[in-house]
This record gives sequence, C-alpha cells and structure tokens, in this order.
Amino acid sequence: MTWFTRRAFGKSAALVAAGSAWLPSLAQATRKEKVTGEASERSFPTGFLWGAATASYQTEGAVKEDGRGASIWDTFSHSPGKTFHGETGVIADDSYHRYREDIAIMKTLGLTAFRFSVAWPRIFPQGTGQPNAKGVDFYKRYTDALREAGIQPFCTLYHWDLPQAMEDRGGWRTKDTSKAFADYAGYMVGQLGDRVSHYMTMNEMGSFINSGYGGGRDAPSVKLPKQQFAQARHWALLGHGLAVEAIRSVRPQVRVGCAEGAAPIIPAFNAPEHIAAARKAYVEENAEYLTAIHTGKYTEAYLRELGADAPVFTAEEMKTIATPTDFQGLNIYSATPVRAADNELGYVVIKNPASYPHMASSWLSLGPEALYWSPKLAAETFGIKTIYITENGCSADDVVAEDGEIYDTDRVMYLNAYLTQLQRGVSEGVPVKGYFLWSLLDNYEWSEGYSKRFGITYVDFPTQKRTPKLSAKFYRNLIARNGL
Ligand code: FCB
Repeated sequence: MTWFTRRAFGKSAALVAAGSAWLPSLAQATRKEKVTGEASERSFPTGFLWGAATASYQTEGAVKEDGRGASIWDTFSHSPGKTFHGETGVIADDSYHRYREDIAIMKTLGLTAFRFSVAWPRIFPQGTGQPNAKGVDFYKRYTDALREAGIQPFCTLYHWDLPQAMEDRGGWRTKDTSKAFADYAGYMVGQLGDRVSHYMTMNEMGSFINSGYGGGRDAPSVKLPKQQFAQARHWALLGHGLAVEAIRSVRPQVRVGCAEGAAPIIPAFNAPEHIAAARKAYVEENAEYLTAIHTGKYTEAYLRELGADAPVFTAEEMKTIATPTDFQGLNIYSATPVRAADNELGYVVIKNPASYPHMASSWLSLGPEALYWSPKLAAETFGIKTIYITENGCSADDVVAEDGEIYDTDRVMYLNAYLTQLQRGVSEGVPVKGYFLWSLLDNYEWSEGYSKRFGITYVDFPTQKRTPKLSAKFYRNLIARNGL
C-alpha cells in the first residue's frame, strides 16, 4: 500500500491507530522494550535531534510570486545547455504552496527539527534596498507552522540563490556582497524573531564558490582567474563572519553557525600513523574555509601554494571571519581517505580506484566511516563543542513498484551504514547533537535537474503526489526507537 497519499494526510492519526503493513512491527518493538526495559542496542542520547533538510530553490517553486526577485539559479537554469534537459526550479516541489503538506509528512516521520533555507531574493528582490514584506511573511507562516507541529526550525540564510542583481554588481567577487549578505541576514533574523533559535549563515562555500566561480556546474558558472577566485573565497568567508556579527547584534540569544561540506577525511584504515595523517589532512584539506573560520588564519601551506594569487586580506577581516560560532554544521556524503606519507604535509589523499562503489550520483562514493571520523576530527582539531550533521543522504534510481511502493533498499543500506558510524562516534563522546537527512523530498538537484532523486519521499513531479519510500519508513522506525 501507499504509505500516505496527499489526500490521506489528514487521516494520519486514524491510519496509525488502524495499523498498516509496517506499523505493527514498530509498535511491537516499542512494546517489547517497555515490557522488558531493553534499550535499543545502538541508541542515541535522549534529546538527539532528528531532522531532514531542503533548500529554497530546490523545493519552493513560485519563482515569480509575491514579489520574489530573480536569483542566479533562475538565470543559470534558463541558459541553454546548463542543466539536465534544461530543467529549472520554476515549480520544483511547489513547496511554496504545499508546505503544510510537507510539514504533515515531517510530523508523520517524527522529526523533531527541520532545516530549510530562506531565498534572499524573496526578502530583498534587488539584493539590497527595500525589503519585500510578502516574502518575509511567507517564512513567518512557514516557521509558525513548523513550530505548531512541534518541529524546531533550523534556518539557512544562504543556500546558493544569490539575487541576480547582486551578481550583476559583481557577486562574490566583491566585498559589497559580503556586506549586503550580512545586512540581509540581520534583517531576516530580526523579522523571524523568536520563531527560530538556530541559524546557519551559509551552505557549503566549498560548493557555491568552488564550483560557481571556479568553472564548475553551479551558478553563475564562471571561471575566475586564480587570484580573483581566491579573493571570492575570502569574500564569502567575510560574508559569513559579518553575518554572524549582524545576527548577534540583532538577537544575541540565537545559536549561529554555518553548514560546510568540509573535506570528509578518514584514515586509510585504523592505524596510528594513518590517524595522525588524517588529523593533519583535516586542517590542510579544509584550509580555504573551515580552518580559516575556526582559526582565523589561512595555513602557511595554503598561502605558499597560491603564491602571488593569494587573497588580499586584513587582520581585522580574519578576526571577523573567525568570530566564534555556537555550532558547526557538517554536510557529509562521501569519504576522503588519506594515508601517512613521508612528505612535507605528512599525508597523501588516496584517489579511489574506478571500481570503488558509488550511489546513483557518480560523485557520491560510499564512505560510511566519514560520519564517524569527520565530526570527530572537526571536534578534536578545532575544539568544536557542538556539531550537527546538516546534510547526509544519497541519490538512488528509485522506481515505483507495482504495488505503488518505492523499495529503495540501496538508500536504506546507505543510511543504515552511515548512521551506525554516527552512533559509534556519539557513543564515544563526539559532540554531534543532531542529524538532518538530505532530503525530505525528491527535489531539483541543481544542474542535474530532476534526474537525481535524493528524497526519502518520492515526488511524482507532474502531479506533485508525495509517496514515502521504504527509506522513510526506515527513518521513522529509527526516530521512534532513537536508535538503530
Ligand atoms: C549538497 C547541497 C544540497 C544537495 C546535496 C545533494 O552539496 O548542499 O543542496 O544538492 O548536495
């Protein structure tokens, strides 16, 4: 049977009471634990946050509604040949209109937190200047609805949809964008008031700068000369730091961090020399973003390698970049294995052979141990006290079976393997306080269009019908047990 069709959401309570093909076993398991007092064998601490994540351009649609300005992703996705089959986020999951339905899904899953992003061009259609009240109101309604459902909103202020007007004025090539971002961030946090307690300034500088301005397949997809590229990285970092300051000055009580796709270093295998190599690699392989944020310095090796192309910066800017944050978000998908080496750095990154297994996206190689090692290395290296896994999940070639179900056993395998490693770390004291699965829904996967499905909820894009996959049931069971 289909777990929940859209029409059935209102009846969710009745369905739970009546039981369904998969619920009885969960109910029995819970009963057994209660009777015998047995805990789940691999449990997470009480209060561990279970979430899922999405981003504005990937899910909202409604790109011309209520005064939203254009973003670089509108421009890029409408440029011939840039995205899979020329697909755009014009409709995406239509979540701008269907967010209540999405929240009902979250509630059924038992989520206690949800990570979403605000589209800057909905708030400031021109990037700066007059704010757009209708855009602000949308996120007020959205976060109110999340809270009414008992779900804690985690808000990302920049998940890649830069207002096109800002790009026209230089985008991340300029310090003005860093300042404009901070102004927008402070304004938005003030508007949302006590609805939101956790903010991420930016999502993955390592993607939107490296790929967007380094000749990759993300908007605006330009290839800057080396020095300008290093400078763009610096302005993104500064934008983060200025935003932390702006947010704190508006609402000192909120928790602020960023969500970075830091290099997910793991030792080649569990041996002291490779673990020592992994520690060194964590600093150097993350020199351009994470290390700068947590130490206020670009490493010597990073600056040496750039030579004359190094960014121009001041001590004051570095101080701003390293403004202490309350938590670090880590987006972790693959693993980067390193081994000890007798060279200047003391390590070498191992390139996986062609036969190394990957998920439906060729870049997404399987590396469950990253969910053990990366948060551990981040905590040990930089003394970070609170970490959230702000993204983890995978693409799969989902098919709807004859009975209407989606048996994404590969995604279940992936999640099971990664979460086992996360539990291993948390039980050893690695300070991860919550996990956000990417993604709640199949959505617009950037330049891959709709060809790559990352959701635990299947979306039939022509009808927008949502159907929970096997992985959604896996996740619901895990959340209910607070363990594997
Ligand atoms: C991450 C992005 C997210 C999504 C996943 C698959 O790098 O932050 O928006 O595209 O990859």
